[in-house]
Amino acid sequence: MKDPVKVAVLGCGTVGTQVVRLLTEQADDLAWRVGAPVTLAGVYVRDTSVPRDAVVPVDALTSDADALIASADVVVEVMGGLEPARTMILKAIEAGAGVVTANKALLAAHGPELYEAADAAGVDMYYEAAVAGAIPIVRPVRESLAGDHITRILGIVNGTTNYVLDEMTTKGLAYGDVVAEAQRLGYAEADPTADVEGFDAAAKAAILASLAFHQRVSLDDVFREGISQVTKDDVAAAAESGHVIKLLAIAERAADGVAVRVHPALVPLAHPLAGVHGAFNAVFIEAEAAGELMFYGQGAGGAPTASAVLGDIVSVARHRAQGGRGPLESHYADHPVLSIDAVSSRFQLRMHVVDRPGMLASIASTLGNRGVSIETVRQKPAQHETHAELVIATHRAPESDMARVLEDLRALDAVLDISSVLRIEGE
Ligand code: NAP
Ligand code: HSE
Repeated sequence: MKDPVKVAVLGCGTVGTQVVRLLTEQADDLAWRVGAPVTLAGVYVRDTSVPRDAVVPVDALTSDADALIASADVVVEVMGGLEPARTMILKAIEAGAGVVTANKALLAAHGPELYEAADAAGVDMYYEAAVAGAIPIVRPVRESLAGDHITRILGIVNGTTNYVLDEMTTKGLAYGDVVAEAQRLGYAEADPTADVEGFDAAAKAAILASLAFHQRVSLDDVFREGISQVTKDDVAAAAESGHVIKLLAIAERAADGVAVRVHPALVPLAHPLAGVHGAFNAVFIEAEAAGELMFYGQGAGGAPTASAVLGDIVSVARHRAQGGRGPLESHYADHPVLSIDAVSSRFQLRMHVVDRPGMLASIASTLGNRGVSIETVRQKPAQHETHAELVIATHRAPESDMARVLEDLRALDAVLDISSVLRIEGE
């Protein structure tokens, strides 16, 4: 056996605690897998007097981050947030340690700076847990599919929003009621904004797009809409048209660039992503040679996320013990990142209209005048006998054309309201 590989853990919350548990409980197996003992150098916390889970050895706790980082071969950042995580990772790299992080927000904001620093210092930087928790997705995209051309990724990468939408779908509940219940059960944060408004999914989308398209895609490049506007009626209408609503992270290659977006979408019931229930995550990939692939599993939680972190620790520790280095970030491509206006989708519009002769013709010509082609129309009686609900599904159309259609429709006397506009994906 070689010299021990010393691992420092920064942060001792949900994920950090489970990382420490697995590191200590599986020490023997890890030593065989790495080819050297893997030891816990220490756990950085702000306050060492705060009681911790019994799996965390009290004598491993320290509030001296600099000394801990300086003593480690591998630094595992599981604090979250931008600072001091960024500065501590840079210090670790400078000190020659390999880095493992689960911090998607940091990578989406400062990834290039960190990758460049790791490259310059010749150390590893792994982040499997940053996207979709336990699901191996960073390695498959970065390594297994490195010889293929990924054309599209559709991901359910946020468990909280999938749970909320799934409860609305299966139990017919309203958005606010499900979020309140999810908060009560501890599934959703007290401030659920990062999840429900799509910020968490957007950070993951930026990471996946960067890996898939071999170029830098930042959080600012990602179009984002959350699920807070999705109503019970939207969910019911989705079911009537053979769909389910999912918050999707979408990264796709088009002829003139790449587009990355996060928004609620109608997914056909027959699509594999429609069967992803509860807080589970799944990533559906379309690649030129490989065809369609789907990766499914737990996207969050202490132990599932720690599983991905441990996988990274083993990789980095192997390199420390046996030499070599993991794959570098590949960012040679520079396709333009398209704005949402240039993206084409199919849309489903739901609107209330005055039910009178010629109404349908005027609505159809409003779409036609902007070059948007109707695929299906359903009309249902509304509560008021002279009103009706129209559900129109379009063929693929650019967002910019759809924006003009919506403006024109709102100006029609016959249109009482446009209750929802949802993109249809996965067909
Ligand atoms: P958490 O439960 O809030 O734990 C974070 C820990 O880091 C807390 O113990 C906190 O200390 C500590 N911390 C925060 N800022 C610190 C600072 N300045 N100095 C020292 N300690 C600090 O968070 P988590 O859920 O474990 O998430 C950790 C990371 O994993 C995040 O980047 C998150 O995005 C990522 N991640 C989490 C999950 C998940 O399911 N939880 C899944 C995938 C990825 P205090 O206790 O003193 O506040
Ligand atoms: N809050 C995230 C989710 C987990 O609900 O999936 C951490 O990325």
